[in-house]
Amino acid sequence: MSEQAPVALRGLTKKYGRITAVDDVSLTVNEGDVYGYLGPNGAGKTTSLRMMLGLITPTAGEARVFGKDPQRSVEALAEVAGFVEAPRFYPYLDGITNLRLVAALDGNSAETRIAEALDLVELSDRAGDKVGGYSHGMRQRLGIAGALIRSPKLLLLDEPTTGLDPGGMRDMRALIGRLSAEGMTVMLSSHLLAEVEELCNRVAIVRSGRIVYEGELDEMRAAAGLTIRLRTSDDEVALRVLAGRRGISDVVRHGTAPIQFRAADETAIGELSRALADSGALILELAPSAATLEDLFFELTEGEGGAAAEAKRLDELSDPIRGPQ
Ligand SMILES: Nc1ncnc2c1ncn2[C@@H]1O[C@H](COP(=O)(O)OP(=O)(O)O)[C@@H](O)[C@H]1O
Ligand SMILES: [Mg+2]
Repeated sequence: MSEQAPVALRGLTKKYGRITAVDDVSLTVNEGDVYGYLGPNGAGKTTSLRMMLGLITPTAGEARVFGKDPQRSVEALAEVAGFVEAPRFYPYLDGITNLRLVAALDGNSAETRIAEALDLVELSDRAGDKVGGYSHGMRQRLGIAGALIRSPKLLLLDEPTTGLDPGGMRDMRALIGRLSAEGMTVMLSSHLLAEVEELCNRVAIVRSGRIVYEGELDEMRAAAGLTIRLRTSDDEVALRVLAGRRGISDVVRHGTAPIQFRAADETAIGELSRALADSGALILELAPSAATLEDLFFELTEGEGGAAAEAKRLDELSDPIRGPQ
């Protein structure tokens, strides 16, 4: 059964001289998944996707797409589409002509899907304009259109929102959501936890080529634990109520910042709220701390904080648009 999974990686490894870009990666992407391959710059995301697309050969291990080796099987590649880093088009040709060239390589039926693909990525009205004048977001969406005209069962996307402005990011995420809703299996790489959280049901977190976490996002949230922020009318009293309470742990308070603690489950929080009211410390704020998952992510990818921070900064830069040539 898992032999026929859209993606099955077993011990996948790629070395470049002394650098191990991808280090013993094993994972399975199931049908209908939106699978996030999450990690900072240099974690080996692009290299992994290149092996899944059959563009480079693994040093060890294997990548299987619908049970087939993308290096050897043309049929495997007929069911998968996508691009790494950025799609490439002729800048001096318009969008639709570029897609016709892609379709010509893919055989006759692809041509008939061009209009539909352009419509889906919301580029129909700009299809007659030269790609050189497209924004980065438009080129990314044209890249997805180019993938869709092959009507693949699996879409592989390498950091599809990197370099896009906030509007472009929102459009791209909405597009991925639509494709998934229509039944397409998607695997995407990203260095943004929030993006993977929004789009994906399953995640592999990679660091220096290795998987440091793999599983359902819901499980990851549970693993991160429930961290709660608390402000009351009398935090001194509240701290006494919290101390040694069943289901409550890791109580911390820095200066005048809200108290933080971990709760075993929601029952513990419910009982706490009653105990606080009884003690006279009235609750002003009692909320799950959104930072938890992010803390876990940085913990897991720790040691590459510099790269992660750099990636964040890169994100804030808008793409320099190359003018028509
Ligand atoms: N063709 C190559 N030759 C040498 N080193 C490479 C090559 N491709 C990638 N690497 C190295 O492999 C590591 C992973 O790169 P990459 O897969 O591009 O990471 P990511 O996409 O997660 O940013 C990096 O250290 C990178 O420098
Ligand atoms: Mg990359």
